[in-house]
Amino acid sequence: MCGIVGYLGGRQAAPILLEGLQKLEYRGYDSAGIAVIENNTIKLEKKAGKLAQLRGKFNGYLPDSTIGIGHTRWATHGRPNDVNAHPHLDCSGRFAVVHNGIIENYLPLREWLISRGHVFRSETDTEVLPHLIEEFYRGDLVQTMLRVVDKVNGSYALVVLSLDEPGRLVGVRRDSPLVVGLGEEENFFASDIPALLSHTRRTYILEDGEMAVLTPERVEVLDGGGSPVEKKLFMVQWEAKQAEKNGFDHFMLKEIYEQPRAVRDTLSGRIAPGGSGVVLNEINMTGEYLRRLNKIFITACGTAYHAGLVGKYVIESLARVPVEVDIASEFRYRNPLVDENALTIVISQSGETADTLAAQREAKRRGARVLAVTNVVDSSVAREADDVLYTWAGPEIAVASTKAYSTQLVAMYLVGLYLAQHRGTLPAGEISRMVEELRQLPDKVNAVLENGRNILEFVRRHCNRPSFFYIGRGLDYAVAMEGALKLKEISYIHAEAYAAGELKHGTLALIVEGVPVVALATQPALNKKMASNIKEVKARGATVLTVITGGMEEASIATASDKVIYIPETHPALAPVLAVVPLQLLAYHMAVARGCDVDQPRNLAKSVTVE
Ligand code: M6R
Repeated sequence: MCGIVGYLGGRQAAPILLEGLQKLEYRGYDSAGIAVIENNTIKLEKKAGKLAQLRGKFNGYLPDSTIGIGHTRWATHGRPNDVNAHPHLDCSGRFAVVHNGIIENYLPLREWLISRGHVFRSETDTEVLPHLIEEFYRGDLVQTMLRVVDKVNGSYALVVLSLDEPGRLVGVRRDSPLVVGLGEEENFFASDIPALLSHTRRTYILEDGEMAVLTPERVEVLDGGGSPVEKKLFMVQWEAKQAEKNGFDHFMLKEIYEQPRAVRDTLSGRIAPGGSGVVLNEINMTGEYLRRLNKIFITACGTAYHAGLVGKYVIESLARVPVEVDIASEFRYRNPLVDENALTIVISQSGETADTLAAQREAKRRGARVLAVTNVVDSSVAREADDVLYTWAGPEIAVASTKAYSTQLVAMYLVGLYLAQHRGTLPAGEISRMVEELRQLPDKVNAVLENGRNILEFVRRHCNRPSFFYIGRGLDYAVAMEGALKLKEISYIHAEAYAAGELKHGTLALIVEGVPVVALATQPALNKKMASNIKEVKARGATVLTVITGGMEEASIATASDKVIYIPETHPALAPVLAVVPLQLLAYHMAVARGCDVDQPRNLAKSVTVE
């Protein structure tokens, strides 16, 4: 994930910036850079790779300056290389900007700026910012920034260094964190508290729309209209390790709570104006290809495979194309009927999973076009695909995949709607209705998270059980599989996901007194049947925890269950994004209750690069 640091005061800036960036390394990044003012010039150094490579560029000599900004980048728009690394400059080299987040409307802004004579060097969305500042600057950086933020849509935390105002730094945030660190005759910006802890624990946490103007002696915070805001001091009590996790006990929990942001970012810039449909500018398939498509294969591993299962339901129902989903290690060896008329979608958070890559190569060898859905720009899967749809979850540190899964689901909805638009398989009204529901998803995920502690009592009662069952029908079955995997991998409890209607064909024999069954009931059309399945396991003594959509519940489901967790109402196809959250929390708290190493579970690697 991108990281920001900024410093101004009486000390040398460059070492402070580099040390701050080092404190943010744990978040993952692919390039880094700093900009400082030395001899009335903005000195910029940036480099793809690790901080050691950036340090190497200085050759032992660090610029002499007491003001500067720094950044670690996790690529979203544009490959991870030296040019795309931040900070970015305007044409005149008078403004340097570091930015976290996504500027949704960067393409029209870039075109407009080019028509005004600006010359762009990078592929990034960020670079529009210094050029906009250059365009609007009339001697006052604060007034300029008020105009700039008025022009841009999307999420950002950004800090600007200006040669014309070498005694101050200006930072603004919307939907991406930015913190001010208060020192003695020196002040700091950081996207994350760990970058500040060796200097100060006194901070201002900026709210959305707020702008902070720092001089060495003073911090002024303004609202979106430019009026001063009285900020409350936040004294950081966390120790460094806890601060890395933003106060959460584990990266996994932090990442579960990052899902509203991750979902929002993955949708960002991909919804047509007015919400009439989706725009996937990154996909180069022709309308003719999309219409003639008669088969889709989805192949992936683990959690990504489970996202693919949801993808099958969604794409088949929205775009009316048959979809087969394969575990990547199976696909390759089963002589699949893939040809040039079949699109193959590979899903991989890391983009480096050996089985997935091998399946992708097999599909290509058979002439198929490959669309990669991945979270890592320029990963192997991305490089070898014909088209790439990036999930913008940000780096996932915990081995157990959470926010990557929910953003993979979002990618599946985007692909389904995109295909439906081109194939004319869904009425316009239905597309807009679904797009509107997609837009509301981040807030609804948030609502589920706010009730996250609901699960604790159930965890306390059942954390010593040796085995769990997860049941559901349709999309709920796909989510049940993901819930069971989460429980297995981090709490080491045996868990089995079953299609609820299939239990009676044998497995019901294992449902005896006290066996915990997690049931999903988010699909109104299937809930009557689910009610029967829940009663079936209850009759054999199971303890049932049910995740159900509020407002459309089958009354008998709630009464038959021992514990009910409600998720907000949404389009049934989108329910997996909400329903998975209590299952992630259940697995997490189970693992904590059993004293497991949540972030580094046994026998698992974050990226499985062997077949
Ligand atoms: O990086 P990928 O998405 O290709 O990884 C695939 C699986 O290895 C991964 O999803 C794994 O199942 C996770 N540990 C699940 O939490």
